[in-house]
Amino acid sequence: MSEIDVRIVDDPAAEVASLLVDVACAGGHVALSGGSTPKRAYQLAAAGDEDFSASTMWLGDERLVPHDDSRSNLAMVRASLIDPLPEERRPHVMPVDTSLGPDAAAAAYESMLRETLGNHPRLDLVLLGLGPDAHTASLFPGKPALQETQRFVAGVPEAGMEPQVPRVTFTFPLINTAREVVFLVSGADKADAVRRAFGPEPDEAAPAAHVLPGAGTLTVVLDEAAAAELRR
Ligand code: 6PG
Repeated sequence: MSEIDVRIVDDPAAEVASLLVDVACAGGHVALSGGSTPKRAYQLAAAGDEDFSASTMWLGDERLVPHDDSRSNLAMVRASLIDPLPEERRPHVMPVDTSLGPDAAAAAYESMLRETLGNHPRLDLVLLGLGPDAHTASLFPGKPALQETQRFVAGVPEAGMEPQVPRVTFTFPLINTAREVVFLVSGADKADAVRRAFGPEPDEAAPAAHVLPGAGTLTVVLDEAAAAELRR
């Protein structure tokens, strides 16, 4: 990786939707982010007439709740990106088995990755969000999943913020081998986290500052409000 491509744009969701469409149309393997910010990007991606049927979508992190629970990242992804598409243009989606405990669910998801992509899985695109505490995926400050050096998916028995449910998360060893990593961040409440993660002096304690794809690109797509502290 050479440097971070920071893009401050009027409509970050549209920018990310177009990056997602490109990879999905090419039949890529994509890790989708959860939370609320990506919803509009997913809706925009699904609004065109592109065919995503050759692509595979993974969840970069998931909350261990039933798939129809309002806190489920898969539920958000289905509602915004999958269900709006006609069946023949839908991507293949890889759900986390949320009936298991965090460690077992993580191990099962890692097996799915290895079966699909081999023992050195490399995703084409990893989409990420950023929390106000600078967490990304379910890699929360001070939690053991941050230290993972071997596993590609880790169990997170205790989340660092709401919703306080156990999670599974992709780890740095997987995220940092991706071909493309893209953060989508908007809103003034994220400005401090953006500075800590992507500013000139990254804060070691900010999980997102450790996203450094060694042989891939890192793009950070922001609105003006989220970028405010970068410009001071
Ligand atoms: C999750 C996430 C998480 C999210 C950030 C931002 O499942 O919670 O994937 O990392 O991207 O917390 O969330 P918002 O977009 O809701 O602010």
